[in-house]
Amino acid sequence: MKKEQISFSYEVLNAVELLPEADQELFKKAREVTQLAYAPYSRFFVGAAAVLQNGKTITGTNQENASFPAGICAERVLLSAAASLYPGIPLLTIAISYFNKNNGKSERPLAPCGICRQSLLEYELRQQQPIRLLLGGMEGEIFVIDDAKVLLPLYFSGSDMT
Ligand code: THU
Repeated sequence: MKKEQISFSYEVLNAVELLPEADQELFKKAREVTQLAYAPYSRFFVGAAAVLQNGKTITGTNQENASFPAGICAERVLLSAAASLYPGIPLLTIAISYFNKNNGKSERPLAPCGICRQSLLEYELRQQQPIRLLLGGMEGEIFVIDDAKVLLPLYFSGSDMT
């Protein structure tokens, strides 16, 4: 028997102010747009903001539905917006923040859900360039992950079907 291990490293910053200026701006934008989320059912408001290689910034928020599975996460709203508004322009960094209206808490970084990890991975493979993630809440620590696909070890992709 053979054992394998997969690990990855990421940076943990104590506060958003420790990020480079451009990242701070992006993260603040993600915090700001959480208010635009449509989350009447979960009351969990997620905001994402991304910068593209052409310098443009785009945002996305979670959009829920009374038919729960029809709801979509902020990250995938953002990826769809990026691909629609700026096709072929690589996405460099995505900042993701949230606010939990149920308990008012928002100090622990939020990591994207499994479906969003899969979507981020596909986007990276498509643009052949890593996507950097900045994860956090309305206050507290920020996680910096240099390549989104590390969040999905042993991933499934189109090449598995060839
Ligand atoms: N949500 C996101 O938008 N992104 C995530 O990474 C985790 C979950 C949304 C989906 C749903 O509207 C609410 O948060 C609660 O799950």
